[in-house]
Amino acid sequence: MPKNGVSENRVTVVLGAQWGDEGKGKVVDLLAEEMQVVCRCQGGNNAGHTVVVGDKKYDFHLLPSGIIWPTAESLVGNGVVIHLPGFFEELEKNIAKGLDGWETRLKVSDRAHLVFDFHQAVDGLQESNREGLKGTTKLGTTKKGIGPTYASKMTRNGIRVVDLLDDFEEFSNKFSILADNHMAAFPGLKVDKEAELVRYKEMGERLRPLVVETVSYLRDKLEAGKRVLVEGANAAMLDIDFGTYPYVTSSNCSIGGVCTGLGIPPWRIGDVYGVVKAYTTRVGDGPFPTELLNETGAFLQKEGHEFGVTTGRPRRCGWLDIPLLRYTNTVNGYSAIALTKLDILDKLDEIKIGVDYVKNGAKLNYYPSSAKQFEGVEVEYITMPGWKQDISGCRKFEELPDNAKSYILKIEELLGGVAVRWVGVGQSRDSMIFRPEV
Ligand code: GDP
Ligand code: IMO
Ligand code: MG
Repeated sequence: MPKNGVSENRVTVVLGAQWGDEGKGKVVDLLAEEMQVVCRCQGGNNAGHTVVVGDKKYDFHLLPSGIIWPTAESLVGNGVVIHLPGFFEELEKNIAKGLDGWETRLKVSDRAHLVFDFHQAVDGLQESNREGLKGTTKLGTTKKGIGPTYASKMTRNGIRVVDLLDDFEEFSNKFSILADNHMAAFPGLKVDKEAELVRYKEMGERLRPLVVETVSYLRDKLEAGKRVLVEGANAAMLDIDFGTYPYVTSSNCSIGGVCTGLGIPPWRIGDVYGVVKAYTTRVGDGPFPTELLNETGAFLQKEGHEFGVTTGRPRRCGWLDIPLLRYTNTVNGYSAIALTKLDILDKLDEIKIGVDYVKNGAKLNYYPSSAKQFEGVEVEYITMPGWKQDISGCRKFEELPDNAKSYILKIEELLGGVAVRWVGVGQSRDSMIFRPEV
């Protein structure tokens, strides 16, 4: 039986259950020890995943967080959007930290779409335009070009890795048309097409040895009984369909994105682990019913070092939101949960949990579909006593103070019995309590 209860020959999935930054990187790193392939299936370098090993801290954006394990291959799937300059920059940064062997372990899908610098520029311009327009607001995007690139993909004039590698003349033509389209739509935008093509010719050749047709590649791995892990990026509440639209990202960061972003059938999906921070955070704009705009929110931000890994922006903080988790569990169907950052609550006298959304005197049994629908919604809370004790040294559930145990068990109860299988009590790889019995 593999150590962390991972089932064989089924894909294991790790997904963010809130608004991102739940600690997916750490959970992926933990599970990757037993994996032979670790995949990203959606998003781009809007993601920022932290892995802490000993005195080394890694932040991954496009590279799967399993890349530091020499025993696992890393695969960037067709659903991911890749900014090649950012991809190589990230690789170099990690090589400088000691990453090696990646040349044979890192695989990139030929179907993945490319994010160009002009997509990133347009991301910024769209944000400024939104600010100025009546009836719309900025979204607080990461300005990594994610929305504009998925827009190109969906309008079917996007450019893929395969285009870059197959025929550079055709690529140049497609690039020129796409750049012209964007310049026409955004008069302030200037693209030096010649210079970009010179860069892309060189980057294409650097990328070529890593590129594979990942659908058959993964199929062969799975048929050979290899253990495959999928690392979700962003999170369910940022999902283009199920998140708090329009304050979302532009991909499916919930379970469906695993099938479409890698080309695997639903039956291959085994355990789906939801990563849940012991409280709630959100970067960027949009509804946040349990947000704390007071000194407790400021405390969580400071104690939890809640600043974005990708943009450095402060994260908004609030209490744990059970209706939100029930909703993302409905969509994703968690086999179990990894509850992270419980140690950040160590010093609090009391901890609240949002247990229901109430509107016009009635409890909602669905999640509101728009910002407007949130109007008049109030959150009902329960209050739990804090444990007022440092739990960072605990490695077993039994070692936790009773009030911390009660907090965990209460979450399981409120979620209708979804098990909390891991509990994070610190940043490092070993600061995790594993409960194989649940
Ligand atoms: P991701 O995007 O979901 O991978 O999460 P991020 O890396 O953006 O943010 C999570 C932050 O919390 C990182 O700084 C992690 O090192 C840190 N972290 C993860 N788990 C724990 C934990 O259990 N305790 C503490 N104190 N920090 C944690
Ligand atoms: P990880 O994988 C937190 C948020 C942005 C913004 C919205 C849209 O580290 O959990 P985008 O640039 O994607 O168009 O921005 O989505 N966002 C994230 N917030 N963690 C992330 O990733 C995020 N990825 C996108 O802040 O509100
Ligand atoms: Mg993050």
